[in-house]
Amino acid sequence: MNIVILTGAGVSAESGLGTFRDVDGLWTKYRIEDVATPEAFARDPDFVQDFYNLRRRNCAEATPNAAHFALARLEAELEGEVLIVTQNVDDLHERAGSKRLIHMHGELLKSLCASCEDRLPLKGEMPTSPCQKCGGGPLRPDVVWFGEMPYRMEEIWNALRMADLFVSIGTSGNVYPAAAFAQDAGRAGADTLELNLEPSDGASDFADARYGKATDIVPVWVEEVLSAS
Ligand code: OAD
Ligand code: ZN
Repeated sequence: MNIVILTGAGVSAESGLGTFRDVDGLWTKYRIEDVATPEAFARDPDFVQDFYNLRRRNCAEATPNAAHFALARLEAELEGEVLIVTQNVDDLHERAGSKRLIHMHGELLKSLCASCEDRLPLKGEMPTSPCQKCGGGPLRPDVVWFGEMPYRMEEIWNALRMADLFVSIGTSGNVYPAAAFAQDAGRAGADTLELNLEPSDGASDFADARYGKATDIVPVWVEEVLSAS
């Protein structure tokens, strides 16, 4: 069996990292056009860097939860392939042990040089110095902003075409192209399952759904898949 799993902010919510669109979500406190667009960075780089510096600190203080660990277990124990495509910029999937992982919206813990595209690991605050490689810059978070192309899309679409099962976990289905993955995979013949706190905007695109907290429903689902395989 070949499983492709899309994750969103809901999988990290119980690790204490906020979601975007829930009642107390990040996009109720910040405007997307102030912190998550190339234009915002050009206009007020310090404000944008502060936003991501704060998120990087929150991420460092958070730990993976039972849903992250269950997905890593699925990959380790399933006779078949598991690929996680995450919209999350935190590193909780890798800290839980997931290996086949695509960060389609980039990673908080990397800097990206806006001039030469050099990427470097980044633990704390974004340095204000120029790029070590080209002497230019500026350095920016290696995250995909609105108006930019998500990473590794060809690879993701290929994986969706090959999938037997597509599972979406903890995402509201608001942001494309990820919001179309259930339809993409379903058209290519995959079974489709939504695991979320509540029906997402794309709920009708899925053949099956289970609703509840990720730390409750993901471990149960993983256990079922492993014992059936
Ligand atoms: P959203 O905040 O839009 O959606 C989070 C989803 O998780 C909602 O459907 C919630 O119901 C669900 N949820 C909340 N708590 C949960 C829990 N404990 N267990 C299970 N589900 C829970 O976040 P995303 O869909 O990830 O992109 O957002 C997609 C993209 O929009 C993000 O990657 C980011 C954002 O703007 C960029 O910044 C480019
Ligand atoms: Zn550079």
